[in-house]
Amino acid sequence: MKFNNFPMPRLFLVSLLLSFSWPTLGDTHQQLDSFLQCLSRHPSNPNSISTLVYTQNNSSFSSVFEFSLRNARVSTPATLRPLAIVTPSNVSHIQATVNCSRSHGLQVRIRSGGHDYEGLSYVSRVPFVIIDLINLRSIDVDTENNTAWIQAGATIGEVYYRIAERTETLAFPAGICPTVGVGGHFSGGGYGMLMRKYGLAGDQIIDAELVDVNGKVLDRNSMGEDFFWAIRGGGGASFGVVVAWKVNLVPVPSTVTVFTVNRTLEENGTMLVHKWQSIAPKINEDLYIRLFLRAVNSSRQDGTRTIQASFTSLYLGETDDLLPLMQESFPELGITRQDCIEMTWIQSILYFAEIPQSEPLEILLNRTATAGIFKGKSDYITEPIPETGLEGLWQRFYEDESESLELIFSPYGGNMDDIPEAETPYPHRAGNLFNIHYVVAWGAEDAASSRRYINFMRRLHGYMKPFVSKSPRRAYMNYRDLDIGTNNDGVYTSYRQASRWGLPYFNNNFNRLIHVKSLVDPGNFFRHEQSIPLLRG
Ligand SMILES: Cc1cc2nc3c(=O)[nH]c(=O)nc-3n(C[C@H](O)[C@H](O)[C@H](O)COP(=O)(O)OP(=O)(O)OC[C@H]3O[C@@H](n4cnc5c(N)ncnc54)[C@H](O)[C@@H]3O)c2cc1C
Ligand SMILES: *[C@@H]1O[C@H](CO)[C@@H](O)[C@H](O)[C@H]1NC(C)=O
Ligand SMILES: *[C@@H]1O[C@H](CO)[C@@H](O)[C@H](O)[C@H]1NC(C)=O
Ligand SMILES: *[C@@H]1O[C@H](CO)[C@@H](O)[C@H](O)[C@H]1NC(C)=O
Ligand SMILES: *[C@@H]1O[C@H](CO)[C@@H](O)[C@H](O)[C@H]1NC(C)=O
Ligand SMILES: *[C@@H]1O[C@H](CO)[C@@H](O)[C@H](O)[C@H]1NC(C)=O
Ligand SMILES: *[C@@H]1O[C@H](CO)[C@@H](O)[C@H](O)[C@H]1NC(C)=O
Ligand SMILES: *[C@@H]1O[C@H](CO)[C@@H](O)[C@H](O)[C@H]1NC(C)=O
Ligand SMILES: *[C@@H]1O[C@H](CO)[C@@H](O)[C@H](O)[C@H]1NC(C)=O
Ligand SMILES: *[C@@H]1O[C@H](CO)[C@@H](O)[C@H](O)[C@H]1NC(C)=O
Repeated sequence: MKFNNFPMPRLFLVSLLLSFSWPTLGDTHQQLDSFLQCLSRHPSNPNSISTLVYTQNNSSFSSVFEFSLRNARVSTPATLRPLAIVTPSNVSHIQATVNCSRSHGLQVRIRSGGHDYEGLSYVSRVPFVIIDLINLRSIDVDTENNTAWIQAGATIGEVYYRIAERTETLAFPAGICPTVGVGGHFSGGGYGMLMRKYGLAGDQIIDAELVDVNGKVLDRNSMGEDFFWAIRGGGGASFGVVVAWKVNLVPVPSTVTVFTVNRTLEENGTMLVHKWQSIAPKINEDLYIRLFLRAVNSSRQDGTRTIQASFTSLYLGETDDLLPLMQESFPELGITRQDCIEMTWIQSILYFAEIPQSEPLEILLNRTATAGIFKGKSDYITEPIPETGLEGLWQRFYEDESESLELIFSPYGGNMDDIPEAETPYPHRAGNLFNIHYVVAWGAEDAASSRRYINFMRRLHGYMKPFVSKSPRRAYMNYRDLDIGTNNDGVYTSYRQASRWGLPYFNNNFNRLIHVKSLVDPGNFFRHEQSIPLLRG
């Protein structure tokens, strides 16, 4: 069912794939049984692994599968399920799973938080096993050296909580939604409200533990600098299984200030959004003004339908210093003392996650989140969008599909401008004014709705083309979008095919990623629809 939504070239490739010998069900059972035997006999296997494997006939299989599944659009009842889910509690279990799936011809999907927009951590079209890192989530905060070791299965909410447990004046620059997993998030960059001050989550990684294709455990020293470079932004699941990251923590004042002001089109919204584009990326880097755009009363024909621009901000300091700064740089927004709320950094994490301040901080440890049905895309902006361009964009918010459409404009500049493009695989640095995140969600998990909303998203993306980065039109890897291109899951990928997503995601860093990939995984074991391909043949 889900494959009805892909563009033509993909359907063509699917039929190519089907013409290869497809394993019959009997073969697959056989394959699974030998895989399971291999696991139990594996030299690096402590006896305990059998109690960490869920096969489809296990009564807990569905709940384990669904626990970290965030996008029900890509996983319908008709979608192929993993033959087994392995939930390692020790690095040796990962070594055994990599070794045994490789020797038995099974693909692996690696899952940490399960927030991949296209579900690549839990969906595959060929027989596969999930390595689900949910049991590897310890976090060791070292406030003497301002570092932390974080296991890949931890969520960013758990990271924030564990830091705040020790101190109010250290933080970590990662995303907004507490249930995002560090395994995928740090692998693709990872940003949030501290980006203009401290860059991306991936920029703060100083060491890592990883299981490679040979089942070997590597750290920064033993993997070497090229390999270490590749895993800090080159995307998860192309190079190995990350077991843990070591990161630098960053200083924050004990009091920060937040504000949100909403302005509709009737309240000069268009002018404010237009101005924001040249102010927010240039302003003092202690101030992050993020912009959300939503339709309000979008279905009403009585003149009350409009667009709401919501300016959501974090200032690393107190209200008394913020007010003159806003008055000087962005007086049109009209921020008053009443708009400002002082709090600790960890309270601001709840604020931006839209969790009431009355909730205990332990809510950040709650990994339970309901799956949505959504499609996301992204763009990078290097020149302000003219007011006429914004007015055309507003028209998209009046279409029927826009009820839950949200655009988020995240300003760049500050520290992002200081980090050279080649420093990590994440290339979107100096010259970018802001990133646009588009997401549309809907309620019904049927093919017709998916088609309708995905088409709406593609039209919106098409409309934006004149206003965004070009040659290539860039995209954020962590907002994964299979519309950009896919290697179709294991079929030979030409450089040309792979560059359809490789250049937008990685730009000039793509070739170095291919080089690293070819050295560390020459058999292309770690692959998925948008993994880094081998050198051009
Ligand atoms: C609700 C929501 C909010 C978000 N907010 C933000 C945000 O504020 N800022 C931002 O930058 N991004 C955000 N994202 C995007 C997010 O950064 C990516 O989806 C990220 O890849 C998720 O990581 P994960 O571990 O949760 O996902 P997963 O689906 O588990 O993994 C994503 C990819 O990484 C691979 N992978 C996972 N773990 C490992 C590992 N241990 N070793 C090797 N490969 C691995 C997977 O196989 C998959 O290909 C958000 C996503 C959602 C759904
Ligand atoms: C299901 O799998 C788990 C983990 O391996 C195991 O502990 C449990 O006994 C299994 N349950 C059944 C009913 O097989
Ligand atoms: C469950 O599936 C596994 C793997 O196919 C098989 O070895 C086992 O016998 C099955 N157990 C039951 C109770 O059916
Ligand atoms: C894995 O097990 C070994 C041996 O028991 C132990 O030394 C190590 O700390 C464990 N690793 C993890 C990540 O739990
Ligand atoms: C800080 O780092 C030093 C040097 O690596 C180390 O000896 C020390 O144990 C660390 N401190 C803590 C609290 O772990
Ligand atoms: C994985 O298997 C290979 C042989 O296929 C073996 O050489 C290696 O030691 C194994 N790795 C581990 C960690 O057991
Ligand atoms: C801004 O609007 C959002 C709805 O889009 C609402 O939830 C929020 O409370 C509003 N904030 C303020 C400060 O008015
Ligand atoms: C819109 O901007 C104009 C000119 O800056 C100002 O006079 C007017 O008060 C603003 N309107 C609203 C509703 O803020
Ligand atoms: C939405 O419509 C209601 C009812 O007409 C109105 O009260 C409200 O102000 C409108 N919202 C906005 C943001 O214009
Ligand atoms: C965790 O979050 C889920 C989803 O928001 C909620 O239903 C559940 O009650 C929460 N659990 C706890 C212990 O707070």
